[in-house]
Amino acid sequence: MPSGTMEEVQVPAGAVDERAAIEVPAEEASAPEIEEKSRAIEEAALDAIFRAARTHDKFRDEPVSDETLNALYDLLKWGPTSANCSPARFLFLRSRAAKERLRPALSSGNREKTMAAPVTVIVAYEPRFYDRLSELYPLSADARSWFSGNEAFAGETAFRNGTLQGAYLIIAARALGLDCGPMSGFDKAKVDEEFFAYRGWKSNFLCNLGHGDPAGLGPRLPRLAFNEACEIL
Ligand SMILES: Cc1cc2nc3c(=O)[nH]c(=O)nc-3n(C[C@H](O)[C@H](O)[C@H](O)COP(=O)(O)O)c2cc1C
Repeated sequence: MPSGTMEEVQVPAGAVDERAAIEVPAEEASAPEIEEKSRAIEEAALDAIFRAARTHDKFRDEPVSDETLNALYDLLKWGPTSANCSPARFLFLRSRAAKERLRPALSSGNREKTMAAPVTVIVAYEPRFYDRLSELYPLSADARSWFSGNEAFAGETAFRNGTLQGAYLIIAARALGLDCGPMSGFDKAKVDEEFFAYRGWKSNFLCNLGHGDPAGLGPRLPRLAFNEACEIL
């Protein structure tokens, strides 16, 4: 088995792809069988997730329940990761005491809005994600060894896929009617020491969650046009 790129390690040439044999638990197999042509989601959903969704600094004084946080994870977990490695870990800070532990790590511009948000999630990743691959990727008996002896490859894989899962969190939150305020302005070393010293997770970014107050929004910033950001060959 060559090691290196994911293209090399995903499914070995000639191997039987046994994905069809993995069963989704009945209670989770809820996606309806829908025809290709009707798969596009409603315009209103596209607005809620992308076009009208904004990054919020200010949130209404409304709590976010355990049920909602569970529903959020139960959606985002279905977003794809390479070899199904699922390296992201999420620490939801909701209590006053938990928020106070975060305060010293926040940049000054992010401090007060984060302390006031109903929930702040630390989007982190597990550098030893490969210890779970025998369950998560049973298609290959040696999946763990692709990463366990190659720290650089494991680190890149954890960060890439953990970041993707952070993006899935934002999309899932918006789909559930929550608003998000993602932030990278904080001291990672302080957060890792305060929250993850004993289990080795690494912080990636923070995201405030709640029901946004539109009164806190400024004008929307532009995006690059298709021909500035994309090319079709
Ligand atoms: C990974 C990430 C890190 C960010 N870090 C910060 C931050 O530290 N402080 C802040 O005020 N905004 C931060 N932002 C917010 C962005 O500036 C904002 O999402 C962007 O301007 C788009 O705004 P819009 O969603 O309202 O169009 C961050 C956004 C992302 C996705």
